[in-house]
Amino acid sequence: MSAPPLLDVQGFGLEFRTRSGTVHALQGIDLAVHKGEIVGLVGESGSGKSVLSYALLGISDRAAKVTGGTALFGGVDLLACGERTLSDLRGREISMIFQSPRTALNPIRTVGRQIEDVLRRHAAARGPDLGTSLRKRAVQALREVAISDPERRHGAYPFEMSGGMCQRVMIALALACRPSLLIADEPTTGLDVTTQAAVMDLITTLARERQMATLFITHDLALAADHCDRIVVMHAGHAVEAAPARELFRAPRHPYSARLLGSTPGERTRSAQELLPVPGNLPDLRRDDLPGCRFAERCERRSPRCTAERPPLPRGDTHAVACWHPLTGPLAAATEETVHA
Ligand SMILES: Nc1ncnc2c1ncn2[C@@H]1O[C@H](COP(=O)(O)OP(=O)(O)OP(=O)(O)O)[C@@H](O)[C@H]1O
Ligand code: SF4
Ligand SMILES: [Mg+2]
Repeated sequence: MSAPPLLDVQGFGLEFRTRSGTVHALQGIDLAVHKGEIVGLVGESGSGKSVLSYALLGISDRAAKVTGGTALFGGVDLLACGERTLSDLRGREISMIFQSPRTALNPIRTVGRQIEDVLRRHAAARGPDLGTSLRKRAVQALREVAISDPERRHGAYPFEMSGGMCQRVMIALALACRPSLLIADEPTTGLDVTTQAAVMDLITTLARERQMATLFITHDLALAADHCDRIVVMHAGHAVEAAPARELFRAPRHPYSARLLGSTPGERTRSAQELLPVPGNLPDLRRDDLPGCRFAERCERRSPRCTAERPPLPRGDTHAVACWHPLTGPLAAATEETVHA
């Protein structure tokens, strides 16, 4: 893609200063999302997917400290622009869909009113539509996320709706102001499989129609494969591989990605798989002696260099891998067992 990315994160680092030590949560993260592109962020629990998205929105925990890098959004550095600019961007230009809609929605306000609140907050910035009443626009927003009988549902409270419907309301809230960047953090967790598929179809259809840049965080590789253009794999606060979705599935090059995807063709082609368990645990991110490659202690291919030196994720490569000894071929490569120790 020749146009510059809408979101361009470079060298981003973040730590949490806690009583039990400093958590080195993110280090040297590079990530780009172009207009109209859907990028999947995958990795085990604790790999840093959520803290990355919170930091971009400026809603990190108080204990979080940025240790370096930039996160340019349309030329504005989200890490340096200050709360005033961020709060103006949030909801209007950058929106987020959270994992649990029931806790994210206000239980004592009707869903229609909640959408109107968002529209009102950003109304000044979106002048041309002001002639249309807020109620009409809120009903329209509900209609766009395929909620049946939106006029009636406008007056419903979250507890009167199913989980899938609440998630549609969250999507309507997130998209009400037509953001140019959407961050969806596990948007289908807790929903049954059919509803999951419907909600994902809805998000991706709207994203494609509106040419939104979308960062889709998930544990579900099949969902990521079906809906994303590119996938970025995270491990223990590092981005370790970034590739077009099909390419990553066909020929993962990082040993961690290969493990996640399963090491045989039979396993790889299973449908609707969550990430496969990878032997060993994520390292404790409070350690001061973390290896250069944070996967080193779980990796059969490690060499002394892996522990000593962090492998970079080359910028500009269509299929980029942060590994000193990457896998080389499709499918069978994942079973290569070269040990350099
Ligand atoms: N407020 C905090 N204080 C200290 N450490 C934190 C805090 N929030 C997150 N962390 C740590 O940062 C790391 C990344 O957490 P994060 O929630 O981003 O993981 P995740 O990839 O989103 O996991 P999951 O898939 O379970 O949602 C973890 O080690 C976590 O313990
Ligand atoms: S080969 Fe080395 S750099 Fe590559 S994943 Fe294994 S430990 Fe990390
Ligand atoms: Mg998370």
